[in-house]
Order: sequence, then structure tokens, then C-alpha cells
Amino acid sequence: MKILLLGSGGRECAIARKISESPRCEALWIAPGNGGTDQYGKNVALSPMDFAGISEFVKDNKVDMVVVGNEDPLVAGIRNYLESLHKHLLVVGPDLNGAQLEGSKDFAKHFMERHGIPTARYNSYTADNIDMADDFLESLKPPYVLKADGLAAGKGVLIIDDLDEAKKSLREMLGGMFGKSSATVVIEEFLKGIELSVFVLTDGNGGYRILPEAKDYKRIGEGDTGLNTGGMGAVSPVPFADKEFMQKVEDRIVKPTIQGLINENIDYRGFIFLGLINVDGDPMVIEYNVRMGDPETEVVMPRLASDLVDLMEGAAKGNLADIPAEARPEAAATVMVVSGGYPGSYKKGIEISGELNPEGTILFHAGTKKLPDGTLVTSGGRVIAATSYGKDLTEALGKSYKAVEDINFDGKYYRRDIGKDVGA
Ligand code: AMP
Ligand code: GLY
Repeated sequence: MKILLLGSGGRECAIARKISESPRCEALWIAPGNGGTDQYGKNVALSPMDFAGISEFVKDNKVDMVVVGNEDPLVAGIRNYLESLHKHLLVVGPDLNGAQLEGSKDFAKHFMERHGIPTARYNSYTADNIDMADDFLESLKPPYVLKADGLAAGKGVLIIDDLDEAKKSLREMLGGMFGKSSATVVIEEFLKGIELSVFVLTDGNGGYRILPEAKDYKRIGEGDTGLNTGGMGAVSPVPFADKEFMQKVEDRIVKPTIQGLINENIDYRGFIFLGLINVDGDPMVIEYNVRMGDPETEVVMPRLASDLVDLMEGAAKGNLADIPAEARPEAAATVMVVSGGYPGSYKKGIEISGELNPEGTILFHAGTKKLPDGTLVTSGGRVIAATSYGKDLTEALGKSYKAVEDINFDGKYYRRDIGKDVGA
């Protein structure tokens, strides 16, 4: 099978590696890829948002399957676009309707309400009913959770302790703080608990597979302090997600989500990322994403024992029920090395040196670029994710930290407490 993967992060590097391990993979291209994805396939200088360019590439290279790594092209309708032009092309990712689960928080909350899926109590508001929004805020206990309805590059959620401050921020959001994305704002009850990410691959026909779960670390600072980032590390398995808890996730969240998609005639063939929170032993949904997580994928893919190409083909063709998704028994942990200053402003183009092929650790490149002379330089905030296996998380983290110490570039930063809160 000839496969085109769209994206350029650590997530795509991990997916590319897993695809390249499949005997089913005849050719792999990554558009645009990064300084590490070319170990697993060929990088193609095309943006995932350049639908016409991607379509031409599919035609010229007889691509059989397109795997969409990031949410923007999905929310913009890439699956509908490509399917309308290429009859036999398999596209892994939801169509425009399905992508609304991430593209509109208001849609996602209504969907959960319609299907009895546990989530925080909420209401949605626009500039037209701001008085009602104030009333709702007054009825809630602090902290107050305000969410821009649309995509906001992971920055659209504000959690505010003070009521007056929350009312002020609400007005700023509705006034365009996140452009059109915050013309509607979801206000919801704050849930207290520990978060985890669960990934489901589904085929539009009710078939689904739950992939290994993971926990990521979103804040820049140790002890979960400071600004939110894309994610500073991840571990899998998640110790508190035992059999009983995961059964609740499947019964209360996965099954009604899949059934809800079918009942609403949403042709969802792709990954669903359930952002969950464990509230006193009960899973609740914080958010849906319509793609894999980053850096969670950097531990989920290494832990997946089964063939990813078989699984994605099953999802895209609608026969996933016949295809196994087994997990490897080892634990996996990843530590993200980031540019100094991230998630604020940071320099790019800094030379990366040190041990870039460490034994016993996989380096998934994220914000890296290879210059024409072969020099590897930084090209983003999150630079490299170092993933290792271990008999437990402690062992896996020990190896990843050793590898991280051996990577050098000016301004290098990483969190030293990945996995500590779950006992590693
Ligand atoms: P989201 O973009 O919806 O994932 O929100 C970003 C982050 O805000 C989540 O990962 C949570 O840490 C936090 N968050 C969002 N909604 C809630 C909520 N209702 N209660 C507590 N924390 C929340
Ligand atoms: N790690 C969280 C995300 O990918 O959205």
C-alpha cells in the first residue's frame, strides 16, 4: 500500500515509524514531515492545508491511503474534498461532520448531552445573551471554565478563580479574543480529578478498537505549573486506569460515542481522542479531538503490537471488527525536549548535536529540520520526544532521561518530573 501521511510533529514521526514497520507499506510519504520523519519515508514539501496540492500528489503517485495527522485539515473538510476527487482513495480521518467533535466545543457538548455521555454541566453563549451567561457563572462554584467554541491552537480554554474576572474574560472572548473561534463561548462546571487520554480507532460501521491509554503533561513547569504547552511528556500505561476504570470508559463513553455517531449518520472513519478526567473513580469527558494526541502518540504507537496499516485500512474500509489491536506488555514513556522560551517566543535554527541515535531509546523528531548540508537545527517549540520502553514506567523514564541529557542545543529545556504524579 502507498501511504501519504499529513503533518510535521512528533506525533507524525511516531505514526510514520509505525507505518514503516508494516510489511503492508510499499511507499510512505510525509507532508511536510520534519528532520526525523525522513528516516521512515520521503518528506514532501506540501502543507496539509494545500488540498489541491495534496490531491495532485495523490494522483501523480497513485497513493492508496491518506492519513491525516492534525486537526486543521480535518475541520476544513479534507476527507470530503479528497473523496470527491479520488474514488478509491482511503482517507483516515472523519469527514466535515465528524470533525465538528473537535471543531466546535458547542457541537461536542450537545452531542454528549444527546447521547448521555458524562461530561461537565455547561451552557453556550454568544454576545446576544451575555446576561444569561452572567447568571450561569453566578450559579457555578469557582474556578470558572470558559472555552472558545472553535479551534484556537490549544489556547482557547481559560480557567479563572474570580467571578468578576471571569465575567470580564467572557466579554473579551466574545469580543474576539480568539477571533471567530470565540464568537460562541462554552461555560462549564470545573471538574476536579486527574486527566488521561484514551484513543479509539473507528470505522463508521460500529467497529472500534481502543488503543493503549496515555497520560500527558501539559504545563511547562514541574509540578504542573506555568503556561499550557502542547505537551511535555507522556506515559503509558496509566497506573490508575485499571481494568475496572477502563471498562467504565468503554461502557459509558466509547460505546455511546460510537453509537451516537451512527445514529446521527456521521461517517466517522479515523481516530477519536477522548480527553478524560477521573472524578472519584468515574471517567468524564473534558473534550473530544479528532486525531491522535501529541506527545501521547509517541508512547501509544510504540506500545501498539498490531499492524497499524491493517488497522487504519480496516477503519477506512469499514471492517475494523475483523482486525486486532494488541498492546505490548512493556511500559513506555516519552520526555519532550523543548526550545528555551517555549511556549512563549523562542529562537529557531539552533544547531542540535549530541547523541542522536541513542541505544534503547527512540528519538521522535518534532520541531527539527535538516539543512541542505545535513546539519540538524531546531524549527519549533517542541523539538524532540525521547521514548523508551521499560518493565515499568520508572525504568522507561530512566532511559528517556539519560537520552535527553545527551541531546544538546542552546536553550534546551525539559521537565524532570514526567510520571512522578502517577508513582513512577
Ligand atoms: P480542552 O482544550 O477542552 O482540553 O481544555 C484544556 C485543559 O483545560 C484541559 O486539558 C483541562 O486541564 C482543563 N479543563 C478543561 N475543561 C475543564 C473542566 N470542565 N474542569 C476542569 N478542567 C478543565
Ligand atoms: N497532548 C494533547 C493534545 O494533543 O491535544
